[in-house]
Amino acid sequence: MTHTYDIEFRDVSVSYDHLPALEHISFGIPTGSFWGIIGPNGSGKSTLVKTALGLLKPAQGTVRTLGHDPADLGSLRSRIGYVPQYAALDFTFPLQVIDVVAMGLYGKIGLFRRVTRRHRLLAMEALARVQMQEFSERQISALSGGQRQRVLIARALVVNPSLLILDEPTAALDHNSSEGLYDWISTLHRESGMTIILVTHDIGVVSEHVDSIACLNRTLVAHGRPEDVMHAPTIENMYGCGALLFGHGDVPHMVVRRNEDNGRSKNGETGG
Ligand SMILES: Nc1ncnc2c1ncn2[C@@H]1O[C@H](COP(=O)(O)OP(=O)(O)O)[C@@H](O)[C@H]1O
Ligand SMILES: [Mg+2]
Repeated sequence: MTHTYDIEFRDVSVSYDHLPALEHISFGIPTGSFWGIIGPNGSGKSTLVKTALGLLKPAQGTVRTLGHDPADLGSLRSRIGYVPQYAALDFTFPLQVIDVVAMGLYGKIGLFRRVTRRHRLLAMEALARVQMQEFSERQISALSGGQRQRVLIARALVVNPSLLILDEPTAALDHNSSEGLYDWISTLHRESGMTIILVTHDIGVVSEHVDSIACLNRTLVAHGRPEDVMHAPTIENMYGCGALLFGHGDVPHMVVRRNEDNGRSKNGETGG
């Protein structure tokens, strides 16, 4: 069955123990597009992604991922590459980069089956896509933060997905490494044509790279092309009036001042 949207939300609400994390979300992510999902901490970005992947069940509304109910993706699951937020590697265990990437195939080959030459070949191809092939035999513990993040993305790419979802891939990186990763993800999008969803709270920077953004603050504050949605009212609705906006090139950049209440504390929640 064909579909024009890789992910579609229709009036979707998601709660944790009856506390709403997302309310009445409706939008679609077209096949082949590059989307940024932005919003402050606790705004529901990871919840949205997990709902699209079928890891959380909506309290209300309809979700379609690759044209299917996400609870019922079956073998389509291997067409989705996912790098969760806080994806971590165990550095106490000696592992080569190539082995980490091959782990992405465990879903297909089973945890206790041997990694064959063919699997290593696929892992090398994935490493080439993140321009890390010359690091294949390095110990993972010897890499920089940005290089590790690329290895995690290669692990998600090894199944050759048509949809790649990266949840805050730059969270642990400094500004320059983040910029490098964004540039590199843009190149991957251009060259592969795969649908890429990039979750971040790094709103100014990501706007320069993606085709479209969805601005979350429990509700969908705005969505569309960065130049159409990145205006002061959207940003205020997303971050509260603690946000300062300033122009830079075509897309506004912003700084977020410390904001004690971004709208969640009225629910008695303490954090995200
Ligand atoms: N497992 C959970 N149990 C209870 N509440 C949660 C859980 N995960 C997230 N939340 C709450 O849901 C809201 C949205 O969280 P999340 O989707 O992680 O936001 P973001 O990714 O934008 O930081 C937050 O208020 C958070 O505290
Ligand atoms: Mg998150």
